[in-house]
Amino acid sequence: MLNFATQIARDAGHLLVQRLGSAKITNKGDINLVTEADIAAENLIIERIRSYYPQHGILAEESGEAALVGGKKSEWKWIIDPLDGTTNYAHGYPCFCVSIALEHSGQLEIGVVYDPMRDEMFAAERGQGATLNDRKIRVSSVEELSQAMLCTGFPYNVRERPDFAREFTKFTMIAQAVRRDGSAALDLAYVACGRFDGFWEDGLNPWDVAAGALLISEARGKVTNYKDEPVDIYNEQVLATNGLLHDAMMRVLT
Ligand code: IPD
Ligand code: CA
Ligand code: CA
Repeated sequence: MLNFATQIARDAGHLLVQRLGSAKITNKGDINLVTEADIAAENLIIERIRSYYPQHGILAEESGEAALVGGKKSEWKWIIDPLDGTTNYAHGYPCFCVSIALEHSGQLEIGVVYDPMRDEMFAAERGQGATLNDRKIRVSSVEELSQAMLCTGFPYNVRERPDFAREFTKFTMIAQAVRRDGSAALDLAYVACGRFDGFWEDGLNPWDVAAGALLISEARGKVTNYKDEPVDIYNEQVLATNGLLHDAMMRVLT
């Protein structure tokens, strides 16, 4: 199933690249966009899952939840963000990815994040570790926030939530560097492979987090909410670190 997930992520990623710069853009909300490419990539992924695993449930950003298959609730659920980083994509800023995860009875089993611009495939299977283009990855070993490169994101209702600016300012004053890249799934993958030492964001959706959370735990990092409880992908708040910086970042957030 991991090979299946990486193959559909790769195919969806290629579709995104083909349509970069020409996909029609519409507004879902004030600053929240969707493009024809989001929809086309999601359709590709869902059609493929439906034909190989017709009994599995699906939760996908653009089409919502289809957990009931033939009237029965499936134990398996695919969690899909066909294009994470839509605003970047709409502006031609080459930082976006496809994120696909598979849950079984509420436990994450598979997570795949594919960056088609760099041809980077991040993949994890529970208990089997995490890889980047088939090579094992691990979180970084940075121990001090003053040496750390951190990343965050702002959800679409950021204008109603000034706490984001406060946290951003605090981390900027303490860390070596702070980035805001605009693709939460890719940000989490970067924590898993040690490019970022920590990531925080409040206001995320399960499809932003599911694959990245498994990547980080399989790369021996730590993913929680802001209260140090194990991450719940259905509950918006994510603090993801190499483990060593977790307490220090939590202190800043609380
Ligand atoms: C968004 C991105 C962004 C994050 C937002 C997400 P989308 O997803 O991951 O980095 O800050 O909270 O909604 O809309 O590009 O799929
Ligand atoms: Ca997303
Ligand atoms: Ca998306």
